[in-house]
Amino acid sequence: MAEAARAELPAGKAERYEALRGEIAAVISGEPNRIARFATAVSLLANAFPDRFFWTGFYLVDPDKPRELVIGPYQGTLGCVRIPFDKGVCGACASRRESILVPDVHAFPGHIACDSRSNSEIVTPVFDADGELIAVLDVDSTQYAAFDEIDEAGLAAICADLLTLP
Ligand code: SME
Repeated sequence: MAEAARAELPAGKAERYEALRGEIAAVISGEPNRIARFATAVSLLANAFPDRFFWTGFYLVDPDKPRELVIGPYQGTLGCVRIPFDKGVCGACASRRESILVPDVHAFPGHIACDSRSNSEIVTPVFDADGELIAVLDVDSTQYAAFDEIDEAGLAAICADLLTLP
């Protein structure tokens, strides 16, 4: 049986994202370390939506290989370590610098199956205050079409805060 999300979170999805946004902001505020910020967001997000979020994590733009992503903080089964910008949904998100919502990953050309149980996916870019792409947030679900515009907006709002909040 799927585990329930924390009882004190709002039941509505948009409201839940809004509450999470505030919680994440409160924890990362004043923390200069980026990995600490990403790890905080992953933990709170994965635990807020346990039924749908099968794999939740960040791929970071490698400063030594700027057209390549390398695994960052995540929760879930073993993730691929590196993804070039021209591969998979994460690579496409990094190239296009915009969110990508994929209701059926098996229909996405070049999709990388780190875990064959994933059936849908949403990937959101993370920029720093100068507008430089620093990472992408990848969320995978075992359900088909697990994500919608509310997820897209909620994750985008949280990602927009991550490296811009003081
Ligand atoms: N499915 C992703 C790869 C990362 S993982 O599934 C954890 C993609 O196609 O980019």
